Amino acid sequence: MAKIDTRLNVAPVPPDEIFALNGAYAVDTHPQKVSLGVGVYRTDDGKPWPLPVVQKAEKELVVDDDLFRHEYTAIEGDVPFLGIARDLMFGFEGKHSEEEAKSRIGSVQTVAGTGANHLGALFLARHMKPRSVWLSNPSWANHQTIWELAGVPRKTYPYYRAATRSFDFEGMMSTLESEAQEGDAVLLHACAHNPTGLDPNKEQWVAIADLCERKKLFPFFDSAYQGFASGSVEEDAWAVRYFFNNKPDMEMCVAQSFSKNFGLYGQRVGAFHYCTNRSSTSIRDIVVNNLCHLIRGEFSMGPRVGCSIVKKVLTSDELTADWHQDLQVMSSRIKAMRKALYDELVRLQTPGTWEHIIEQNGMFSYTGLSPKQVYALKDKYHIYLLKSGRASISGLSEKNVAYVAQAIDDVIRNEN
Ligand code: LMR
Repeated sequence: MAKIDTRLNVAPVPPDEIFALNGAYAVDTHPQKVSLGVGVYRTDDGKPWPLPVVQKAEKELVVDDDLFRHEYTAIEGDVPFLGIARDLMFGFEGKHSEEEAKSRIGSVQTVAGTGANHLGALFLARHMKPRSVWLSNPSWANHQTIWELAGVPRKTYPYYRAATRSFDFEGMMSTLESEAQEGDAVLLHACAHNPTGLDPNKEQWVAIADLCERKKLFPFFDSAYQGFASGSVEEDAWAVRYFFNNKPDMEMCVAQSFSKNFGLYGQRVGAFHYCTNRSSTSIRDIVVNNLCHLIRGEFSMGPRVGCSIVKKVLTSDELTADWHQDLQVMSSRIKAMRKALYDELVRLQTPGTWEHIIEQNGMFSYTGLSPKQVYALKDKYHIYLLKSGRASISGLSEKNVAYVAQAIDDVIRNEN
């Protein structure tokens, strides 16, 4: 290899698979190409869908002519937005101790979900020093990068049983039970697990919460799909709310993204919430103060426009109702596409069982296709998905689902 003339000690790192695939898809000129790679919502025409409610809110924001709209925010971010984001996540309605519950949560604005995960990882690495963070196997690949950058050793707990294409609850529990150490962080996907689309049921969440409490583990929730997965913001926040309400002595945190549920991918809207145990309001303030220290040194404060849109929507009953409608549109189309793909594969009598496609939840299906089959889909059919077999169901449409099913049928039969 030629010597590289640099003072740096650098070696190439592998490109990010999701965005590399997206780039390859963008330059592919094949008329029937299909993108099942990156997790973004698409219409039945394969187009992005700026949410109608977001478009309405944007118009109102322009008309408002707010002199401050391009000014700095506080270091912790847009404070009213943070209260709204927190209430959406934790849902305090009807709680006797609403004020007390709110006083347990310290919130700061982040650069979307990735930024919230990163800030939380960095904060824990400095101030809690977990010996390890436990990630599900598999998990969103960026979790590995984020915790690597924070300098925390990563371990994995079993999550996926390939033989039955199901959630390996027993494997997860027994590994955490026997190997996790007091003070370790456990990364949990609040809903719509990425990449498997398999979530614990409520009974299993209760058992996971008990285990975290008993073993003194630190639950770190990644919530990227609230409302997008099931269509209901309450349902998709169930696990977070259960942990928070039922284990008040257990500290925990949540990385919250608004990329998918508001379709604000490029606006980078997110929040990080740290929940102290019931006795520590003053600790909550020190937490926020330390998070602000990290934020100031890294990016000074989160961006403003996207969170103004979310704030506009969630402070209006009418726009909130519209948003719930938009969530229904997105989640129902994805469910319909799961069913359409399943029906086609059954009709073609494609070898194997395909129920998992309709049983999985959220943006993705973990199809069970092998890397060789995934490669053949791209090579022969210009259909793009991750080599793990993860497919973003949103890339399917009435127009391409038969083509995709026929291609899967071919690679299943011929690429073993
Ligand atoms: C995905 O998993 O495809 C999305 O969450 C996009 C991303 O940032 O990786």
